[in-house]
Amino acid sequence: MIVDLSFTDSAFKVRYDTKSNRLVSEKDLLIQENAVRMLSDMDTLFRDLKPDFKDEPLYYMINGVCYPEHKEIFDKSNLKYEYTVLLPKLIAGEYLKAHGHIHYVKACPDKGMMEMMEVIHGKGYFLLFLPGDNGFDVTIVKVKRGDRFIVPKQYYHLTINVGDEPFIFSDIISQSTGGDYSLLKQKRGAPLLVFKDNAGGIRYDWNKNYPPIEKISVCDVNTLPYKQAFTIEGPLYDSFISDPGKFEILNEPY
Ligand SMILES: [Fe+2]
Repeated sequence: MIVDLSFTDSAFKVRYDTKSNRLVSEKDLLIQENAVRMLSDMDTLFRDLKPDFKDEPLYYMINGVCYPEHKEIFDKSNLKYEYTVLLPKLIAGEYLKAHGHIHYVKACPDKGMMEMMEVIHGKGYFLLFLPGDNGFDVTIVKVKRGDRFIVPKQYYHLTINVGDEPFIFSDIISQSTGGDYSLLKQKRGAPLLVFKDNAGGIRYDWNKNYPPIEKISVCDVNTLPYKQAFTIEGPLYDSFISDPGKFEILNEPY
């Protein structure tokens, strides 16, 4: 299957081939990295997975993507554009999810950084969570194509594919940030696990390796429980190219 990743009002025309798991473009395209996350990379994060599981790809990450003529704008801005493609699968009854992480500043690891997201294809959730005084605040953002929002620097975050097609999103993030995966490794996943129930619906389960959830919010991008540092109107790639200065805040450590 070929999935069109472009928005009609975008000059950035890219498609995704679900057979080769590669981007397809009529024009020259720079791609810094094609990476895959295998089940064996995060098998301890699926609670009911048996030890004799068969290894398989879970999701693909395509990083540092741009037309050659825009490379300088990205590099001068110290930002990069990325895609993530989560396959439609159940893993031991759980909807396929990304590992989850929080962003830190490479030169100053106790500081965090923000990330701007854009939902492109499929049906998925963003699971955001942050430590509170007595437990964790958990937010489930139910997203749809064209949703654009910022993940604040305090929030751990991951995505979950709850549909039957690839769930695809893009992001813009600082070239100076790294992902810290340690809490999720230590706790074997996020505070909330999302399973398919016997009737084909969605069932949430608490990950008992965490203290109790202090607060849980289910929202969409219009009812996020935090204020966004800035918003954009049009497609992410084009918004950045037309006004890179607006995205400078993504380089600011907090
Ligand atoms: Fe991230």
